[in-house]
Amino acid sequence: MNIVITGASKGLGKAMAVEFAQDKQGHHFFLCARHAAELEQTGKELQGRFPRTAIHTKTCDVSDKSSIQEFATWINSLTDNIDILINNAGIYLPGSAYGEADGNLEKLMEVNTYSAYHLTRLLLPGMMAVNPSTGSPKNRQPRAYLQYLFHCIFKRISQWRCIRNQQICHVWLQQKPA
Ligand SMILES: NC(=O)c1ccc[n+]([C@@H]2O[C@H](COP(=O)([O-])OP(=O)(O)OC[C@H]3O[C@@H](n4cnc5c(N)ncnc54)[C@H](OP(=O)(O)O)[C@@H]3O)[C@@H](O)[C@H]2O)c1
Repeated sequence: MNIVITGASKGLGKAMAVEFAQDKQGHHFFLCARHAAELEQTGKELQGRFPRTAIHTKTCDVSDKSSIQEFATWINSLTDNIDILINNAGIYLPGSAYGEADGNLEKLMEVNTYSAYHLTRLLLPGMMAVNPSTGSPKNRQPRAYLQYLFHCIFKRISQWRCIRNQQICHVWLQQKPA
């Protein structure tokens, strides 16, 4: 499978890559983070530990729409068939509506929420394209997941405490149907 994971140089993103990489079938990974050295190091480590996989890495700041576009263009130049997209990259900025720095909420929304929306929109057409051999979409579930993503966004926007607690659904898993 072709698997995209944002924020994959460490933490949960890297852990999910390791989880998938243990499969007997060799997956192709498209991983991003902001800091090149750490991302490259993670890429080399995963490639060494799991020789059946193919690890592709590219720096990307998901809070920057143009950077997301570059990441998506790079992915689409390597494959037109993404099976799994994990919008994992995110940050936690502690604070509250009372007294926190101006711009906290906007920053959180950019990194944790809008990023998932933009990258999903850029990769979804390829994920939903019709498979010529079967005549059916390569992936039949994206619409349902996208609706769920929007549901989460709008629900959380109206619930300030949940935004603060990072409960928002910015980890969005899209898995190819069996
Ligand atoms: N760990 C938890 O208990 C927990 C609980 C609830 C939610 N979460 C959420 O789960 C996700 C992963 O958490 P984690 O604990 O694994 O975090 P982490 O250890 O801090 O790792 C975050 C990863 O995202 C990357 N990243 C951060 N900002 C980015 C940006 N603007 N553009 C691209 N990559 C970016 C980081 O690399 P660079 O710094 O190089 O960009 C890193 O690879 C986050 O979205 C977090 O909010 C975590």
